[in-house]
Amino acid sequence: MTADKAAPAPKPGILDIAPYVGGKARIEGVAEPMKLSSNENALGAGEKAREAYAGALDRLALYPDGRAVRLREAVAEHHGLEAERLIFGNGSDEVFALLNQTYLQAGDNIVTGQYGFLAYRISALANQAEVKLAPEPGFKAEVDALLEAVDERTRILYVSNPSNPTGSYNTIDEIRDLHARLDPSVLLVVDEAYAEYVTAPGWETALPLAREASNVVVTRTFSKIHGLAALRVGFGYAPLAVAEAVDRIRLPFNVSIPGQEAAIAALSDEAHIRASRELVQSWVPRMIQAIGGFGFEVLPSAGNFVLVRFGSSERAAAANAHLNARGIIVRPVGGYGLHEALRITIGTEDQNRAVLDALSEFAAQV
Ligand SMILES: Cc1ncc(COP(=O)(O)O)c(C=O)c1O
Repeated sequence: MTADKAAPAPKPGILDIAPYVGGKARIEGVAEPMKLSSNENALGAGEKAREAYAGALDRLALYPDGRAVRLREAVAEHHGLEAERLIFGNGSDEVFALLNQTYLQAGDNIVTGQYGFLAYRISALANQAEVKLAPEPGFKAEVDALLEAVDERTRILYVSNPSNPTGSYNTIDEIRDLHARLDPSVLLVVDEAYAEYVTAPGWETALPLAREASNVVVTRTFSKIHGLAALRVGFGYAPLAVAEAVDRIRLPFNVSIPGQEAAIAALSDEAHIRASRELVQSWVPRMIQAIGGFGFEVLPSAGNFVLVRFGSSERAAAANAHLNARGIIVRPVGGYGLHEALRITIGTEDQNRAVLDALSEFAAQV
């Protein structure tokens, strides 16, 4: 090696990508902060999943089943899907990355809403594709705007339904309309990470659409209602040709044994799913009403979180500091251009009351 040789350079574009910043987990000087910054399940993992995870201890020396066959069959049976059409990932984030890697080349683009989940964008940029954002003036993905953003280089259109961080959703009629008017060469990915929480009228899963269409992928995760974010398990239900293409580049052992085992157990833990859903469904309206009563705008939410708009970025920063000072971590969403807002995950009853107390105090000061 000669001293004057240039240092290794990442591919063009890599250093232009803003690193993903996850929800903060610590506050200086607070031993056990309330972490309401990543839309995790306030009840944690269910008992069945915890037992299955513990039961995997004696298999730590082994490689996982690369096809995740038992998990594949359990998911297929649970949702009534064809097992061979499932793509498993290290979280649904990996499914997005695999789709991007499989379908995007330099100069292609993905389309998503202005406030579409950031994870779609990072791996698109890493594949030297562009990201086209459709305006969401009402904080909701609009079919016409999404279709207008599609051009001849669009390969994938992502919709999160419900959407993070806004909490908005699209009805199944809107999703079907979007699909009907989308060029069939474009893959439509419907990210249903929060599906199990939704009660909103007109929302339905797009799994039946994915079954009949040749260009629709629906993704789900074990990180949200199943409370297994640490284990990183998600999946996509795709046309067989898509699943087979993705499988060629998937790392062979991308879902761990404890992850597979806990996910299988979580699927059948109906009591935990019900309790998690009921907690969120009872607190979302209470949080919206109470925070609205303090004079802040709260968007309707179909997920396990609410987006609170404080009117200015300064006031949102002050609210964030006030919550932090009371040991509560929520999520600033400036990465989405929502500098005036904070996203607050629904917590346990005590945590939600602590948030309301802190915001009520804050409102009295401003
Ligand atoms: C809309 C949306 N999709 C996907 C994910 C990622 O889930 P996973 O943990 O399966 O990667 C999240 C997590 O916050 C999300 O909000």
